[in-house]
Amino acid sequence: MASLKPPLPRALRPKPKGPSEDNGHVERGRKDKLADKGISTIDWIDERTSLSGGARWVMFRKIPKGTNWFYTLGSATMFAFLSQAVTGVILAMYYDPSATRAYESVRYITNEVFLGEFVRGMHKWGSTVMVVLVFLHMARTFFFGAYKYPRELNWVIGVVLLILTLFLSFTGYLLPFDQRSYWATTVGVAINGTGPLIGPYLNDFLRAGPEIGVTTLARFYALHMLVLPLALAAMIGAHLYLVARLGTTAPPWMKADTPDDIRKDET
Ligand code: HEM
Repeated sequence: MASLKPPLPRALRPKPKGPSEDNGHVERGRKDKLADKGISTIDWIDERTSLSGGARWVMFRKIPKGTNWFYTLGSATMFAFLSQAVTGVILAMYYDPSATRAYESVRYITNEVFLGEFVRGMHKWGSTVMVVLVFLHMARTFFFGAYKYPRELNWVIGVVLLILTLFLSFTGYLLPFDQRSYWATTVGVAINGTGPLIGPYLNDFLRAGPEIGVTTLARFYALHMLVLPLALAAMIGAHLYLVARLGTTAPPWMKADTPDDIRKDET
């Protein structure tokens, strides 16, 4: 027989049980409760955004047999970029891109700011690490034949990423505005000027005036901390989309599975 009691008001109804509360006798520790909180927060966000489908599509992919440590070079490059972004933001809080103050602000970061020398060192060495990693990653994709159909577009995007990475390094080098960076940039800008067709225009654009000076520094700073990182982040997004969409290439020494192998794998 149906109950004749009036329904409880919403506020007084017992809350539904959390994922690890189902078994009533198990003593639940603090860790379990925290884990539940995490799960229910993710559920709450996912119910409203459906982001987990996308995350699953990117992260839970089948990878070819023989995938090895060389395949981590792309992610390592991305990690180097993220580290550069974080340390760069911290440096930008103290750096002053004016010709008279730039050198002094870098000296201040190095000698006075708490952990300033460490953060500056990470950014400076990180840039070299990123350039080395990007070349190693490019070599891996080249020697594994990953530039071939259907990944040609990802190779082309990779070339753009390489150019952006090198330009980030180049524009960053001027920022301390000491003798070394001033003359290195003078040489670098002149080398850019020797390029075919666009060389002279590039030279004028980079110098931003009759000689390397105040306007060059402002232009390099804008390129270094705004234009190039944003362009690089957008291109990395496109690069990773294609990696997730097309999957990665098997190493060239792996043989294609015979029907027998496939049958064995399936059982
Ligand atoms: C900022 C620079 C770059 C980042 C962050 C990056 C990131 C990645 C990541 C995470 C992957 C998947 C994992 C792997 O295979 O390592 C990948 C794959 C790939 N990358 Fe890059 N990459 C960069 C630069 C380049 C360059 C310079 C090239 C070539 C000119 C390139 C060509 C490729 C190709 C062809 C693949 C597909 C590999 C395959 O299918 O096996 N990437 N990249």
